[in-house]
Amino acid sequence: MSSPGTVPQTTPGTTPGTTAEAKDLIRLRRIAELRSQVATWRRAGESIAIVPTMGALHDGHLELVRRARVDCERVITTIFVNPMQFNRPDDLSSYPRDEAGDTAKLAENRVDALFAPAAEEIYPKGYQTRVSVPLLSDCLCGAARPGHMEGVATVVAKLLLQSLPDAAYFGEKDYQQFLVVQRMARDLDIPVRMEAVPTVREADGLALSSRNLLLTPAQRDQATAMYRVLTELAARLKDGRTPAPPALAWGRAALGEAGFDPVDYLELRDADTLQPLERAERPARLFAAAWLGQVRLIDNLAVVDG
Ligand code: PAF
Repeated sequence: MSSPGTVPQTTPGTTPGTTAEAKDLIRLRRIAELRSQVATWRRAGESIAIVPTMGALHDGHLELVRRARVDCERVITTIFVNPMQFNRPDDLSSYPRDEAGDTAKLAENRVDALFAPAAEEIYPKGYQTRVSVPLLSDCLCGAARPGHMEGVATVVAKLLLQSLPDAAYFGEKDYQQFLVVQRMARDLDIPVRMEAVPTVREADGLALSSRNLLLTPAQRDQATAMYRVLTELAARLKDGRTPAPPALAWGRAALGEAGFDPVDYLELRDADTLQPLERAERPARLFAAAWLGQVRLIDNLAVVDG
């Protein structure tokens, strides 16, 4: 997995492709339609990428699409706000949705197909199966949001098995999620290349996220503190000798002073296993999750690259 270092990895750029260049986007709602479309492309010998999303697309998602387009001949984007990964009903109901806007962005970025199933298509009556990746899931966001990582692993396993792509693309902003789905695909022998794409940031460092749309203007200003604190901590810890606990205590206080309340976690972890670290003495990453009002923001940053 590539590691982005401690500076803003990518900034939002202009969207390649214009409406004039946009070609028709194939819209698929049913798994059978998706399978039939994939079979057509496979018969033509074409390679296929999938970009799983929950919609409300921003430049971070479009960066995944751009990477997928470079690597594969056909790109499928999925939009499915997955109820299984939400542990709070209000979080699910307030999750931003904009299928019309999303469709236009995907067409402009020359995505070949949009798979946007209804909840009953993915979880029909009688559905029971769950996929769990316990060691990588039970910490960080998994601890703060019980059942979340299981919901993610389950839906990504289903999407991969429905589309059988050559490669699947995920943002490094959800680094723990990437480790979980990568492990899941390996453990279940799903023949797919799992690709992590560096976080896209605003000019002030805020990681792009669909949830940023829910911030008030004042909260949007406060939100920049998360990246500032992570950057400062990475600089303090990168020598590999500085003890993490006092530095992290400083970081939690700084987030609190900036208006984050509560801070779910601010931690230094092994970049591969997610085990807690006392010092950044091997590939290590900082992870943060904290609330501004009703909005929970997360971010992470490499301290020592793998
Ligand atoms: O990162 C997301 O948007 C979602 O967790 C994912 C990977 C699409 C699964 O629902």
